[in-house]
Amino acid sequence: MYCFVAVAGIFVLFKLLKKLFKSMILETKRLIIRPISLEDQNDIFEYRRDKDINKFQAWIPETIEDVKTFIGDTAKQINVPYTWFQFVIVEKQTQCVIGDLGIHFLDKENRQVEIGCTLNKNFQNKGYATESVKRVIDFLFKELHKHRIITSIDPNNMSSIRLVERIGFRKEAHFVESLFVDGKYVDDLVYALTEKDWEI
Ligand SMILES: CC(C)(COP(=O)(O)OP(=O)(O)OC[C@H]1O[C@@H](n2cnc3c(N)ncnc32)[C@H](O)[C@@H]1OP(=O)(O)O)[C@@H](O)C(=O)NCCC(=O)NCCS
Repeated sequence: MYCFVAVAGIFVLFKLLKKLFKSMILETKRLIIRPISLEDQNDIFEYRRDKDINKFQAWIPETIEDVKTFIGDTAKQINVPYTWFQFVIVEKQTQCVIGDLGIHFLDKENRQVEIGCTLNKNFQNKGYATESVKRVIDFLFKELHKHRIITSIDPNNMSSIRLVERIGFRKEAHFVESLFVDGKYVDDLVYALTEKDWEI
């Protein structure tokens, strides 16, 4: 009898976990957006190691071990305050991992998150970042009931500025020399979007 209850319990737990994981697989017309996994390490290393494309990024891996650590340090559960949850973006047509999209869950009280997106340079300028960021925003507002989404951008990062302005983010701040990156202070723009903005 106890054995039956235990097996039934495990079965229910397995079903719940499967449902939870499935609900985190987001889809658009051309893309699948799913949680990062260790199997993505080579694809991620290939585009994230590019120092030129990623010159505005705080994290540039030197070795594949850096990528493994990055994946290992990613939160295993979504929506945990003060952790980063990482999605990868997969092109449906080729099944290639073409980029990643991170969500930084901030304090619970204010229901705020920060997001960031990186695409492999071979898959830029096709509208993929816009398509995936919009899908994730929809998920954050409608399914995780977030109130406000922010993003932090270097004022020289023009493709990112065009991306967030295209989506409808509002420029709310220009902090002067507020971040120490690569041995020097740089400015930081903060863009934001509220759930009300998204309803319009
Ligand atoms: C930020 C980043 C993801 C933006 O990528 P992107 O390719 O410019 O953005 P999209 O994929 O949405 O593509 C939009 C562009 O493709 C063009 N485009 C071409 N074909 C298109 C299509 N079929 N549908 C939509 N847009 C298309 C658009 O006109 C637009 O061009 P524009 O920016 O000159 O106006 C990319 O520059 C990147 O990975 N940068 C390095 C990492 C980084 O700095 N990240 C930001 C810090 S969080």
